[in-house]
Amino acid sequence: MKKDPVLKRILLVDDEENHRLMLKINLSGKGYELVEAANGFEALSIINDNADFFAILLDIKMEIMDGLTFLSKIRGMGIDTPVIMISAFDSAGYAVKALRLGATDYLTKPVDIAQLLNLLENIGNKDEAEPVLVDNEYKFSGIYSADGLGRIISLLKMVAPTDATVLIMGESGTGKELIARSIHENSPRCKHPFVAVNCAALNENIIESELFGHEKGAFTGAIAQKKGKFELADKGTIFLDEIGEMPLTTQVKLLRVIQEKSIERVGGEKIIKVDVRIIAATNRDLKRMVESGDFREDLFFRLNVFPIKLSPLRERKSEIPLLVDYFIKRFSEKMGKRVKGYSDTFLNKLKSYTFPGNVRELENIIERAVILARGDILEGYDLPEFNEKLVGDTDLDIKNNEKQLILKALEEARYNKTKAAEILGISRRTLHNKIKEYDLEV
Ligand SMILES: Nc1ncnc2c1ncn2[C@@H]1O[C@H](COP(=O)(O)OP(=O)(O)OP(=O)(O)O)[C@@H](O)[C@H]1O
Ligand SMILES: [Mg+2]
Repeated sequence: MKKDPVLKRILLVDDEENHRLMLKINLSGKGYELVEAANGFEALSIINDNADFFAILLDIKMEIMDGLTFLSKIRGMGIDTPVIMISAFDSAGYAVKALRLGATDYLTKPVDIAQLLNLLENIGNKDEAEPVLVDNEYKFSGIYSADGLGRIISLLKMVAPTDATVLIMGESGTGKELIARSIHENSPRCKHPFVAVNCAALNENIIESELFGHEKGAFTGAIAQKKGKFELADKGTIFLDEIGEMPLTTQVKLLRVIQEKSIERVGGEKIIKVDVRIIAATNRDLKRMVESGDFREDLFFRLNVFPIKLSPLRERKSEIPLLVDYFIKRFSEKMGKRVKGYSDTFLNKLKSYTFPGNVRELENIIERAVILARGDILEGYDLPEFNEKLVGDTDLDIKNNEKQLILKALEEARYNKTKAAEILGISRRTLHNKIKEYDLEV
């Protein structure tokens, strides 16, 4: 069935049928389409099927899964649809709890329709004020949105054209190198080299020769003169990755290079001027390393001129759909597949995951899913690594609850699937898929 694009879909969760009817009558003709659920369980099942709602009107007190539980479950799944709580209790305690769980606002029964329409209108306006932003002015070979990485990008726009030293901090896979490269690409140095050095990969014996070069015969094995990374990066940018792993002795020398803007090759006497912008990155807590004496404080201050902190992906889940689209496009082109999109279950599964490996992990997951894809839409089963161990408790909870709910409906309908689907308020096809997913076939 085609959905009228003008109507905004609202999920109405309330166990009082009369109240649902009253709201339906009052909101119809005002640009909204109401989808009804008689309790939290039913609402979850609907959301699992299609989470694309403009807003959720949510009763607090319901026999089968109350509103607060439902709210905390959907937030745990990464669904950030605005929620307006509705309750017969004019109780501040519930209101505070609901707001803390991420509800947008709180109304008491009997609902003042004018007030409700006003709230819904505000939600609509807010949507328009925060568009997803992809900017063509600033070169960045990735994806960001206004409320995610976009804040960092606006900082980068300021710092990229300068020569300031930048320290990028963030967990593994958050995009530190991507950011470092984009600073270089948007700087006047962009025509000159970007030289990346992974400090963690270099042992104490060779790191100095790698960074500063060496003269012939400087040590056993130094059969020829060699230029170091700093010389190679002249007029460009050097990216010192995993700076937290740099040995203390090398830290002293790096500090001197920064202060004097010149290097000395190992075993050499010549002082060589270098014009290099430094960007350093780490997934360690350098401040704490300074306190424990594992990182030089003076070097820390020299590097920390312009700190950039990248948040883990689990703290910017709103960016997941954008990233998923981006990776699907990239990998389906690369593998000559015709994957065009993904199902709601697919996205919900991703949104309920914590991504310890951040964007790199998401990238790998999508790559595998595109390889596995049987059709042009990625489905939940294209995420085989999302077994019960990997997915957070909330998701398992929801799955268990959903399974129970479906079983109950099937029993109630004496295993007549059309009837059971009606009870659950989902389509027969969705029910059929769920029965397959949960292995409930009889
Ligand atoms: N915003 C983004 N858009 C698209 N791809 C991204 C984004 N952020 C990160 N990636 C991708 O995720 C992967 C990891 O990024 P990157 O190597 O920059 O992370 P990192 O922080 O340097 O990780 P590590 O600490 O493990 O070295 C890369 O393949 C990168 O292209
Ligand atoms: Mg890196």
